[in-house]
Amino acid sequence: MINTSYLYVANWKMNLSVQEELSFAALHYDKLVALAADPSRTIILCPSFLSLHELCIMFAQTPVVIGAQDCSDHYAGPYTGQISAQALHAIGCGAVIIGHLERRIYNCETNKTVVAKMHAALQQGLLPIVCVGESAADAAAGKALTNIDEQLNLILQELAEMPSLPDKSSIAIAYEPASAVGTGKIAESDHIEVVLAHIDNRLKAVSRHFDIKLLYGGSVTAAHTPDLKRISQIQGFLIGNASLNFTELKKIVE
Ligand code: PGA
Repeated sequence: MINTSYLYVANWKMNLSVQEELSFAALHYDKLVALAADPSRTIILCPSFLSLHELCIMFAQTPVVIGAQDCSDHYAGPYTGQISAQALHAIGCGAVIIGHLERRIYNCETNKTVVAKMHAALQQGLLPIVCVGESAADAAAGKALTNIDEQLNLILQELAEMPSLPDKSSIAIAYEPASAVGTGKIAESDHIEVVLAHIDNRLKAVSRHFDIKLLYGGSVTAAHTPDLKRISQIQGFLIGNASLNFTELKKIVE
């Protein structure tokens, strides 16, 4: 992972069939590779689990990184239906999204599970893209930072205690306010700046041992990116809906 590069993470969620994911990748293969060849950016495609292996093979030996949308919090064993970080690493995945809002809501993921998954990913040399963000209720009550701190506390504790990893490992923290994810409504720039400055400040405690990138996610589109790119703390985007349209994705990246 190139430290100075801007990260673009395409989260396809459960929107496409395997056929559609493979067709997207095949149709736009050359352009995706050309976009990712610029060292100022890193492009990570996160398809469904069923397409991961095929996409890892397709994009092997290219700068396009393939990531998963989740991994198990366990190393291996009797965990029906789960997929381990080591299995992801073995097929060539380079990254994994962890603790996405939709998993916290629909799969009851707790801060504890999120941290265990982050640990598993780091141990396999995967880039964990760890999502944090305030709920709509906490945002309305003016408790956004308190809510985010609850999520960050365990993450920071784990990072501080992790046995030293081979290199300075990379981690991405994606700030995704619930009010912006999948709603078409982007968070206010001022609010994003305050929250990211807060997260950045808290992460300083572990930044000597980890390369940390801060991302913004939630209704990112090409129309919003010029303004978002002016926010100095943002070092990349987690892109849902807009990443399903290659023309839109290309505009965001360029
Ligand atoms: P969205 O999704 O861009 O469709 O809001 C972002 C995300 O869920 O990561």
